[in-house]
Amino acid sequence: MLTAIADRLWVAEQPLRFYGLPIFSRMTIMALPNQDLVVISPITPTPQLTQALDQIGTVRYIIAPNLYHHLFAQDFANHYPEAEFWAVNGILAKRPDLKPDRILTEATGNISEDVLYLNFPAFRVLDITGNMPFNEYLFLHRPSETLIITDAAFHFGAESHGLVRFLAKVLGIYNKLRPTFLERFALRDRESALATLRETLTWDFDRVIMAHGSIIQTQGKAQWRSSCEWYLQTSNI
Ligand SMILES: [Fe+2]
Repeated sequence: MLTAIADRLWVAEQPLRFYGLPIFSRMTIMALPNQDLVVISPITPTPQLTQALDQIGTVRYIIAPNLYHHLFAQDFANHYPEAEFWAVNGILAKRPDLKPDRILTEATGNISEDVLYLNFPAFRVLDITGNMPFNEYLFLHRPSETLIITDAAFHFGAESHGLVRFLAKVLGIYNKLRPTFLERFALRDRESALATLRETLTWDFDRVIMAHGSIIQTQGKAQWRSSCEWYLQTSNI
């Protein structure tokens, strides 16, 4: 149920249909030094999952890291009423039924010395409803040198379903850490995006965990830089 990725870092995944595409959605779990757990992008809190989490620590933070990965957050928060449920600015307009304990509005912050976060406000998606914000937060787990993103980029390679591989090739993102053209077309505030992404590149990380696709275990920073440059259509970020 939980896959150990590094010391005090795990993931859990569940199948997801996205416009009919069979992909997975990934939750990331970090343990702080006091064994408090930080859960990013929660999936369904099945009994197996919550039992596994309870064995590694105390779920203290439940974070819906953007305006899209909120589907299971309230169920998770209901299961762990002692935990703090964090969501991002704008979530209540979209999901007025949610009851977050805290709405993230600041540009940067930290949960402890181990976990930093940064808002990526310029990141948007173009879909059938128009040009929509994600309000995504990016996270750094410092002890394991891991960047944790949600929808800011995908990484679909050989492990993905054939249909997903086909579409990733059509979209030019196969086996690469990339957002899609839809996100690139939706970009409006290039200077803001540049500033945010430059800040992430000051972070020390080697691994990248994303919500959809294969985890990049090493040299993730170079791939993230390449993703940022592709997104901003520049060769020098
Ligand atoms: Fe997503």
